[in-house]
Amino acid sequence: MLGGTADARALASLLHAAGAVFISSLAGRTAAPLMPEGEVRIGGFGGVAGLRDYVRAEGIGVIADCTHPFAAMISANAYAAAGETGARYVRLERPAWEPVAGDKWLRVPCIGAAADALLPGSRVLLTTGVKDLPAFFSRPDIGGVARMIGEPSVAVPPDWRLVQERPPFSVDAELALMRDEKISVLVTKNAGGIARQKLDAARELGVQVVMVSRPVKAGREVAESAEAMFAILKAGN
Ligand SMILES: NC(=O)c1ccc[n+]([C@@H]2O[C@H](COP(=O)([O-])OP(=O)(O)OC[C@H]3O[C@@H](n4cnc5c(N)ncnc54)[C@H](OP(=O)(O)O)[C@@H]3O)[C@@H](O)[C@H]2O)c1
Repeated sequence: MLGGTADARALASLLHAAGAVFISSLAGRTAAPLMPEGEVRIGGFGGVAGLRDYVRAEGIGVIADCTHPFAAMISANAYAAAGETGARYVRLERPAWEPVAGDKWLRVPCIGAAADALLPGSRVLLTTGVKDLPAFFSRPDIGGVARMIGEPSVAVPPDWRLVQERPPFSVDAELALMRDEKISVLVTKNAGGIARQKLDAARELGVQVVMVSRPVKAGREVAESAEAMFAILKAGN
């Protein structure tokens, strides 16, 4: 199971409780990751070839891809490795968020487009993750709050404040943060799932949302939840 998400941890708990034989894999990006139940390995495989060799060496029959919707490289590698080894490839992908009445969304195709879309003087709540900081920090005409779990590898400009916190965040906390920091734009990836609090807060305050669309991933078998994925794996066909 390729993990690094709450959905992957939920699936690991279900599999563990059912006595299934499985190995969770984490990229090893965060210093203190939340650990799933059961056996865990940590670190990259070394591209498609490395993953293919790992699948063969461990006698893996199913690659359950439960990575984040924006982790495009590992999913592409997993799909290719499955093709090369004959392992079954199943993906867990929670439904994307859709706007509701009152939302002010601008959909953009990628992080670069999100940074380009921001008007000079914008006060931004940036929630897209450490990898994406340079695209925004290189704009001298914007500032705000960058929220993330990991450590940034770039210097934080004076107009930006860093918040290193792990979700979930309540709607009240999101409202307070947006109000206190005079946020005018929320920049977020369309991670999907139930954690819509920042979107609810943005709607209430009339804050513009720049929503980065998901990359397209391969694979025919897709489950929308840990429970649905568990049912697919349990059925085993
Ligand atoms: N991207 C996000 O917004 C986001 C948000 C929350 C959590 N995550 C989690 O963080 C991890 C890294 O995300 P990313 O966007 O940096 O991935 P990525 O760009 O798709 O993958 C980059 C490389 O990291 C390694 N890798 C990624 N996930 C792995 C896993 N579960 N087990 C072993 N190696 C893995 C692979 O290295 P090799 O080529 O060497 O095998 C992969 O080629 C993922 O597991 C993902 O579920 C990502």
